Amino acid sequence: MATPHEAITSPEEIAYVNGRFMPLGEAVISIEDRGFQFADGVYEVVATYRGQPYAIDEHMRRLQRSLGEIRIDYDVEPLPPLVEEGIKRSGFGEALVYIQVTRGVAPRHHEFPAASPTPTVVMTVKQLQRPDSILHENGVSVISTRDLRWKRCDIKSIALLPNILAKQLAYEAGAYEALLIDDAGRVTEGSSTSSFLVKGGVVYTTPAGSRILPSITRSVLVELIQKLNIPLQEANSTLDDYRSADEVFLAGTTTEAMPVVAIDDTQIGGGEPGPVTRRIREAFVSSVRSG
Ligand code: PDD
Repeated sequence: MATPHEAITSPEEIAYVNGRFMPLGEAVISIEDRGFQFADGVYEVVATYRGQPYAIDEHMRRLQRSLGEIRIDYDVEPLPPLVEEGIKRSGFGEALVYIQVTRGVAPRHHEFPAASPTPTVVMTVKQLQRPDSILHENGVSVISTRDLRWKRCDIKSIALLPNILAKQLAYEAGAYEALLIDDAGRVTEGSSTSSFLVKGGVVYTTPAGSRILPSITRSVLVELIQKLNIPLQEANSTLDDYRSADEVFLAGTTTEAMPVVAIDDTQIGGGEPGPVTRRIREAFVSSVRSG
């Protein structure tokens, strides 16, 4: 049996729901929440380094923008201290914080409720699990599949059905990620990551805009790439460009900078992480870990 002392100190997955922290297993939401009924909400995923939420201001700015774009009237200002409190309460040394804000609870009608409900604000704090380091060392394989998402991928919407269907295809193929290909044959990004290719010493990534998520890790890497004086172009690339690239890598909050060594049946860069990706990854790791 846990002593009171143990109960306080053992790390625990926790939730925050509309103003209250509780053990994750106790958290409940109404089935008339518009997030549940319509995916009428937006979210953020924040990881810690050295116990501190990484790039919290950037995540909050993106969340505020996503809320504005879908016309949910909620000010994110109270969230950063709650994120910190959640991490402390959980007791995890490194944590992954999921934040979701929906339009709130109302009888199911498609249009916005006449009397604006209070937005539902939910957070979960779990132990951070980064991909096995062997994946960063050896690189991963990815598949390609159609990008079936809507035309506002810049909004971090909780409506992720096309993303999860793509990720499931990758999982079934034993791959780490699915690269999404739009109707014009261009790679947009991964199902939950941004994507980059390296060719002739130049790094290419999809231009920011409504076809991709404005990934925080992507912007951090873009800055690092510029600091490293590696030429960078925000330009569209086809699947063939990716397949014939010298190097390919993915970026995301938990993924960090991840080398890709195969796309479908095509080996990339001799099947090993390339030198440019390694340099960028090393720069990223030292920037976040040395703090
Ligand atoms: N996914 N592109 C898509 C479609 C994403 O869903 C994500 C993040 C990224 C990377 O963004 P960032 O660097 O801000 O994490 C790119 C999160 C982690 C998720 O859905 O779990």
